[in-house]
Amino acid sequence: MLRKKDLLGLKDLTAEEIEYVLDHAVEMKEALLSRQTLDNLRGKCVSTLFYENSTRTQNSFLTAAESLGARTLTINVATSSVKKGESLVDTGKTLDALMTDVIVIRHSMAGAPQLLAKHVKSAVINAGDGMNEHPTQSLLDLFTMREKFGTLKDLKVVLVGDIKHSRVARSNLWALGKLGAETVVVAPHTLLPKGVEELGCEVSTDVESAIAGANVVMGLRLQLERQKAGLFPSTSEYAELFAITRDKLESACPGAIVMHPGPVNRGIEIGSGLVDGASSVIEEQVTNGVAVRMAVMDILVGGNA
Ligand code: CP
Repeated sequence: MLRKKDLLGLKDLTAEEIEYVLDHAVEMKEALLSRQTLDNLRGKCVSTLFYENSTRTQNSFLTAAESLGARTLTINVATSSVKKGESLVDTGKTLDALMTDVIVIRHSMAGAPQLLAKHVKSAVINAGDGMNEHPTQSLLDLFTMREKFGTLKDLKVVLVGDIKHSRVARSNLWALGKLGAETVVVAPHTLLPKGVEELGCEVSTDVESAIAGANVVMGLRLQLERQKAGLFPSTSEYAELFAITRDKLESACPGAIVMHPGPVNRGIEIGSGLVDGASSVIEEQVTNGVAVRMAVMDILVGGNA
């Protein structure tokens, strides 16, 4: 079970709660792959409220909701009454009044899902808040690693890229630490947040030495929309030093996997051939995302888990 009505981040979840979601997602993945529509959320409504762009997360939640038999509402913020000045809380209360049971929110402001959760009856799921957390992305990453290696304990997981602006990195560092993995973050000094060691990871600025012995190498997107200018000389120089390539992967463990939350800037964060190569699990991550989101929503409002 999860102790709260909402899923706002992994920082506050216990290892047992995280494992409970991952275990339930195994069952959900079986149903998803066999293209069954379950009844777990029959009669319930899931609304997506995205103030930032998304391809994977929003459609993954919608697919997950429909696979559980739920009704869905997609709020298009650009054409909604948000543009007439309606506040986040009033938008949330309107969704409650439209008989919504789950609100999935993405917002550029860290803390927006927490604010919404305090004011609505619906279960709130954080689909990414500023540079804070992206809990369901991390859960699908954990699920994918566990599927490949059987356990997360003692896995060496190296996160390469824009750590400073990455909510995916924060959620993964919180969760991987709780589940006993060894974590290393690699980035230029300008893309490392102050105090990142407090998240329990090693810190490096050298990709090749950091990757030595890794089981998982995860590229992170350069979040140009959140960066001030001048954090690195040019994207080509960044790519030369920090793009994950076949050469740089040579020192990883045999059987190491390459991950990326997407969207990928090919050739900048990961060599294009590697994105489609045998070690890449990037597409599996997307499918696993649906299973994990089915599990989260079933646990929060389905009452069947
Ligand atoms: N990984 C992720 O959050 O992708 P989207 O921005 O496409 O949702």
